[in-house]
Amino acid sequence: MFRKHVNLKPYTTFGIDSYAELFATFSDVKTLQSLVDQSAGNQLTILGGGSNLLLTKDIQGLVLKNEILGVEVAEETTETVLLKVGGGVVWHDLVMFSIENQYYGLENLSLIPGSVGASPMQNIGAYGVEIKDCFEKLEALEIATKEIHTFSHEACEFGYRESVFKRKLKGKFIITHVYFRLQKHAVLNTSYGAINAELASKGITIPSIKEVSDAVISIRKSKLPDPKELGNAGSFFKNPVVSNPVYENIKISYPDVPSYTISSNHVKIPAGWLIETAGWKGKKVGNCGVHTKQALVLVNYGGATGKEVFELSQAIIDDVYTKFSIELEREVNIL
Ligand code: FAD
Ligand code: EPU
Repeated sequence: MFRKHVNLKPYTTFGIDSYAELFATFSDVKTLQSLVDQSAGNQLTILGGGSNLLLTKDIQGLVLKNEILGVEVAEETTETVLLKVGGGVVWHDLVMFSIENQYYGLENLSLIPGSVGASPMQNIGAYGVEIKDCFEKLEALEIATKEIHTFSHEACEFGYRESVFKRKLKGKFIITHVYFRLQKHAVLNTSYGAINAELASKGITIPSIKEVSDAVISIRKSKLPDPKELGNAGSFFKNPVVSNPVYENIKISYPDVPSYTISSNHVKIPAGWLIETAGWKGKKVGNCGVHTKQALVLVNYGGATGKEVFELSQAIIDDVYTKFSIELEREVNIL
């Protein structure tokens, strides 16, 4: 059942060599429980689509890849539908399913790589929407007891690229199923500037769900590298939230610094702007570098090691701190 010494390169979007001591897949909860049972004492690492991971070393113990499939309607009213989705379902396939069935809520999250099971981990988000907006609950296996627990919306403690599973419960649960409550009547969110501009460029004033999804896909393709062509894990850093005095200080030298108000005392500054302004955009260091079209994305030009990419990220963190007194936080999970 366990494969030994498996190269994880094909299972991650950064495309970096790293070997799992033991590797297995599971496509149902019973198999998962039995694998966890057999692995007692071994370190466990859960893998979805490998699109938010940087592997900096070989992985000791057992790597378990989630392949639980299935999208089913668990409940339906005249207004909404509740979908129960297997954690191994490809995220974009779920979004396409919702669009084909005219279930509203996930369209702005089109083309995000990865699995449904990982989506609550960091409350994935894009273009003004996060999964917390249509998340109802999830089921997860507790590694210590092999029991299935249900987590409500509140119990997940969602935040910006955050959840309880990235903090307090890190490494303790394996998400097996996620439930999404979607709307059956048109509710579209096109407030994000780039979506409006994309729709306007096509002369669309009252968009359909498919047109919003197509607009998002087109914007994403124009700036984010396709992992099949260039290894990456999306945004490497989070957009930092800074206090007003820090922001005002930057404004003295850069009056046009972009920002989004978060509260009366705090603003969010795009990390992409900080990294670009610090001079890193398009820079190549050894076999890795900073993407030419999106400074928030670190890329593997081929043959990069995880250590090399990590060191590049540290050099960026240090330089941005020296120049702006802002400490960037990595968004990608480092193993
Ligand atoms: P993995 O990389 O396999 O795992 C990520 C973490 O979750 C790991 O710590 C892993 O151990 C854990 N994990 C995985 N599955 C489970 C499970 N079932 N139970 C418990 N723990 C689990 N993210 C956004 O939010 N917005 C974006 O717009 C976005 N754009 C991206 C664009 C590109 C080109 C790429 C490559 C990535 C992008 N990402 C984005 C990041 C990534 O797609 C998401 O974080 C995604 O949810 C990761 O899913 P995954 O299945 O690949 O997770
Ligand atoms: N910017 C620059 N230079 C760059 C990139 C960005 O100056 O090279 C500035 C510009 O001012 C731009 C602003 O940053 O207007 C925002 O850029 P963009 O719309 O590309 O979004 P982002 O803040 O860089 C975030 C998410 C993405 C998500 C997009 C769209 C984070 C860490 N990243 O990126 O998520 O797709 O918004 O909503 O919040 C991911 O998490 O992996 C990811 C790709």
